[in-house]
Amino acid sequence: MTKRYPPINPKCPHFLHGGDYNPEQWLRSPEVLKDDLRLMKLAHCNTVSVGIFSWVALEPEEGRFNFDWLDRVLDNLAKDGMFAVLATPSGARPAWMSQKYPEILRMNADRVRILHGARHNHCYTSPVYREKTALINHKLAERYKDHPALLLWHLSNEYGGECHCPLCQDAFRAWLKQRYTSLDALNQAWWTAFWSHTYTDWSQVESPAPHGEWAVHGLNLDWKRFVTHQTTDFMKHEIAPLREITPNVPVTTNMMGTYAGLDYWKVAPELDVVSWDSYPTWHGQEEDWRLGSSVSFIHDIYRCLKGGKPFLLMESTPSITNWQEVCKLKRPNMHRLSSLQAVAHGADTVQYFQWRKSRGSFEKFHGAVVDHVGHEHTRTFHDVAEVGEILEKLDAVVGATIRPEVAVIYDWENEWVIGDLQGLSRKRRDYGGTCVAQYRPFWSRGVPVDVINMDGDFAGYKLLVAPMLYMVRPGVAERMERFVKRGGVFVATYWSGIVNESDLCFHGGFPGPLRKTLGIWSEEIDALHEGQTNVVVPVAKNGLGLTGRYQARDLCDLIHAETAEVLAKYGADFYKGRPALTVNTLGKGQAYYIASRNDDRFHDDFYGALVRQLELKRVLNANLPKGVTAQMRTDGEHDFVFLLNFQPATRKVNLSREAFTDMTSGQNVKGNVTLPAYGSLILCRPHAA
Ligand code: GLA
Ligand code: ZN
Repeated sequence: MTKRYPPINPKCPHFLHGGDYNPEQWLRSPEVLKDDLRLMKLAHCNTVSVGIFSWVALEPEEGRFNFDWLDRVLDNLAKDGMFAVLATPSGARPAWMSQKYPEILRMNADRVRILHGARHNHCYTSPVYREKTALINHKLAERYKDHPALLLWHLSNEYGGECHCPLCQDAFRAWLKQRYTSLDALNQAWWTAFWSHTYTDWSQVESPAPHGEWAVHGLNLDWKRFVTHQTTDFMKHEIAPLREITPNVPVTTNMMGTYAGLDYWKVAPELDVVSWDSYPTWHGQEEDWRLGSSVSFIHDIYRCLKGGKPFLLMESTPSITNWQEVCKLKRPNMHRLSSLQAVAHGADTVQYFQWRKSRGSFEKFHGAVVDHVGHEHTRTFHDVAEVGEILEKLDAVVGATIRPEVAVIYDWENEWVIGDLQGLSRKRRDYGGTCVAQYRPFWSRGVPVDVINMDGDFAGYKLLVAPMLYMVRPGVAERMERFVKRGGVFVATYWSGIVNESDLCFHGGFPGPLRKTLGIWSEEIDALHEGQTNVVVPVAKNGLGLTGRYQARDLCDLIHAETAEVLAKYGADFYKGRPALTVNTLGKGQAYYIASRNDDRFHDDFYGALVRQLELKRVLNANLPKGVTAQMRTDGEHDFVFLLNFQPATRKVNLSREAFTDMTSGQNVKGNVTLPAYGSLILCRPHAA
């Protein structure tokens, strides 16, 4: 049963459309602030994010607060029926604070304390910084708790990075003591007898450093875990006064896609709703449809971070992003396409960085709804207004979600340990790319997918794909085995089941605790140089209809089929004839093992066969042209189907006899529809059970 989630805040049962708004930069130009309100209406914006970098404007000197300007901004928004996502200002602090309390300045891994400057660089352990943030958050919540414009709290901005100061070292040691209880257990877990690294006193334990300890993988892993823990702890500290004073105002923080510095699966439970900032390099070296599918993959992570609950697209650019290698303009239709893509995967907002270009400093050329020219007669403004008009017609989609039959595992800890290991091939480990390569065939067929981590619940899926599951935490293999025995289909790849939660290798043959489920033993793995390939040759009657030869590159696992059946073999090198693809039957289910990193055609044929055999639900009963996807949300009564063309050329889709309503035009649609270059359509039909 699909249910509809309530809107982010019942005050506004619509899509949020707007962006980061920095009125503190324009306090000397009241005419600009006045015009902003006029322009926001024209752009069909209903919400802005304010106060993100306003600390010095709110507290110009220690203990002296000035909320007058923010009062006026919020009052004016409310007068116009608009809403505010109100930020806590900890993302950047006033200079007076850094000057008076140097302990709040971060210390880098080289143990050099930074000077005041830039942003996102406070110590998250510092009691002084915690006290200062608690105070300002408290004041903001007290002042605006009943303000009609207050919709949502935006905690800080893009929490990230790490601090190696003495306060953080102490906190790290305390965290380790809690985790391991004894130093002996820590030494064992980190395998410190290696290179004589055994600790004989807790005080010897230090965070990793380029000029110190960097070679103990268990330490590196636990440090990353600690950084997530401590950042989350700081975030909880920020949340406390907000939840106390404004229990009905939800809390979010803007995350950064698959940013490697934080395990977002650990951060998300503390938030009411998750949000992220999406800045793809459209029109770059990679074909847009391939990039588009990787962006979809991330959107799906964000929907799954809260178990299917809609998320927020907190930032995206209306035109260019100024920090990319090449700051390419969005081609016509791309703004609408990329905005609706987020919505298609579960976003209940389309928000931008930024509303108006700042006149000076680092982001003066970053895309904005309002350019330096200062009026609405620009291509970008028009693109934004178009999206706003569309969103106004999508009230029915707010809170709708999707319950896919397929899950792909993407796990942050796994990303960390694969990145840190010595071995394989340095440049082409590509955990993330491997996950997306398994995801893409579903995207291309319009088969909805959840992206979960290895701790997720597998029970509701028909198909579970776990690419490069190098680390297997306790209990995970058992749950996978149960999943298969009960009739699930499981797919694993090369380089799986190698280490436990401490990054210690499993003994007794890889893939460790997955060996029984997969029915294979992986004896060794070959890494190939760039340009080198092997071939994967399906055996006759392989059950999946695989034919021809597929190309393998980068990594080839040399396995023995134990209880598994061989479906394809290597066709070259000294391991010619050894298994390259196997399937093991266990209980009512099957477990496949893909031994090598294969070409797209393999993934397409392999997963295409599984989609057919398992009769996985496709959003549309249609063959989608390459580069076009169909995604869907439903409230159980209606299906909202998003047809998205990531090709720079027209594409046709045959909807056959199914009847839809075009949600933007209100017209009935069936048969052949034509999508222009980067075109998008939102269609509605009665829910197809
Ligand atoms: C991040 C930040 C914003 C802005 C944008 C620019 O997402 O949160 O403040 O700097 O990048 O792309
Ligand atoms: Zn610190």
